[in-house]
Amino acid sequence: MNASTTWHPVCERDALTDRQAVEFTVDDTPGFVMLHRDRLVAYANRCPHLGIELNWMPGRFLDADGDFIQCATHGALFTPDRGHCIAGPCQGDALSPLEVRESRGQILVRVPD
Ligand code: FES
Repeated sequence: MNASTTWHPVCERDALTDRQAVEFTVDDTPGFVMLHRDRLVAYANRCPHLGIELNWMPGRFLDADGDFIQCATHGALFTPDRGHCIAGPCQGDALSPLEVRESRGQILVRVPD
């Protein structure tokens, strides 16, 4: 089966709480899912600056104010809704979004080929 057609369960919906993301690996792609203004968002856990993971604490991706996703290495800031980098060394670049949906209390994601 083609990877782009496969939805993978990554966590229970109840695991997503305020400011707490859930990390996963699907098809060798590390990613994270979180709620932003009650909307599900999911991204590959890869900073466009150096291609390394964004966080250094499990499930912690937001800045101190909880407004932006922040890379722990050089501090780049990304909008949670679209993953656009608005400050930092990769300004103008973006996180790689993953498709995400909820079904029967489960969070499902799929990654592109
Ligand atoms: S590695 Fe993320 S801002 Fe440099």
